Amino acid sequence: MFEVLPPLSPDPILGLSAAFKEDTNPDKIDLGVGVYKDEQGNTPILTSVAKAQKILLEQETSKAYISPQGNQGFIDGMLSLLLGETSQVRMANRVAAVQAPGGCGALRILSELLVRCSEKVRVWVSDPTWANHIPLIGSAGLQLETYPYFDKETASIRFDAMMETLRKTEKGDVVLLHGCCHNPTGADLTRDQWDAVLELAQERGFLPFLDVAYLGFGDGLDADAYGVRLMAENLPEVIIAASCSKNFGLYRERVGLAAVISNNSQTRDITQGQLQYVARGIYSMPPSYGGALVDIILSDEALTKEWIGEVDAMRNRMQSLRSMLVEKLNENGLDRDFSFVEQQKGMFSFLCISPQQVQAMRDEHSVYFVDSSRVNIAGINKQNVDTLAKALVSVL
Ligand code: LMR
Repeated sequence: MFEVLPPLSPDPILGLSAAFKEDTNPDKIDLGVGVYKDEQGNTPILTSVAKAQKILLEQETSKAYISPQGNQGFIDGMLSLLLGETSQVRMANRVAAVQAPGGCGALRILSELLVRCSEKVRVWVSDPTWANHIPLIGSAGLQLETYPYFDKETASIRFDAMMETLRKTEKGDVVLLHGCCHNPTGADLTRDQWDAVLELAQERGFLPFLDVAYLGFGDGLDADAYGVRLMAENLPEVIIAASCSKNFGLYRERVGLAAVISNNSQTRDITQGQLQYVARGIYSMPPSYGGALVDIILSDEALTKEWIGEVDAMRNRMQSLRSMLVEKLNENGLDRDFSFVEQQKGMFSFLCISPQQVQAMRDEHSVYFVDSSRVNIAGINKQNVDTLAKALVSVL
């Protein structure tokens, strides 16, 4: 049976971790997979999460199945974060949602739901987009198209070209937008640009599919929700996949949310049933643990405050690492302007160097990052920034 299967190349992102582990250079630097790291290179459990774990250990009395939609407290807390406390669409009972196994699980459930609406759905993704969008959405059977997003030459968003392409969309098309902290480029739409995308969605009738994996890592929890809230409150239908991997540091617990805004509450009720049916057909119901922790944090004022402080600290540290890298590059005599790294948002930056230069960084300097030239900013620290800057200057 299995001999018919072709061998596959390692995953473009996860494969880097394996290669990094095997490298024996003591000065190796890992800027690959998007995981937050502190100054010592560790990914600690957030203090708010550690406190929630203790509470959960004392409170949990059963390991019986949770309900098919997941933890309702988690869902409500996440919808407040994403849509705001006074969301009109929630008050109008237009939001269906399920807890999902990570942002990936959410993306997949929503893709399966779209296939159930029509096998002809086209999903437009940014060029470039997160590498795993392609298998997650494509394997569900949806047709993928791309819209221009980022210009490597100028290290900026190709907004006019993006809009020109999206003007060709038709009613029934889906446009995947990164809610904030675009992965892989770190280049985000401005508020004016979000407003223009909303107008175009109203004109063309496409359905925005918002992937929100880094809420709080750009400009703050509320500021980062601008695009999501704008679309949600002004369009009849919107879909949202959210992840708690990064902002709650719950990577391995697989915690996410799949939400669908429908144009009325009857369709919402039907959609809720459909979401649960899709989930049941793949994994039945989500794992309980991570969602329960998020529920504990978001339903306790003091823990929420502590968690927001931790998100703010991670964001501010990543911003200072961006400045530190640019400064070190200048100090090491780089004659190219890398100041765009400081303008980009969230966990990633696109260095806009060639795949050959990325390979040279790996082979000659043991610095690991994605072929597209995406670096995980959180992998930089005071100990490795000089080595990193020197290596970059030498391959450039
Ligand atoms: C990343 O983009 O590095 C993260 O979202 C981890 C992953 O699964 O790819």
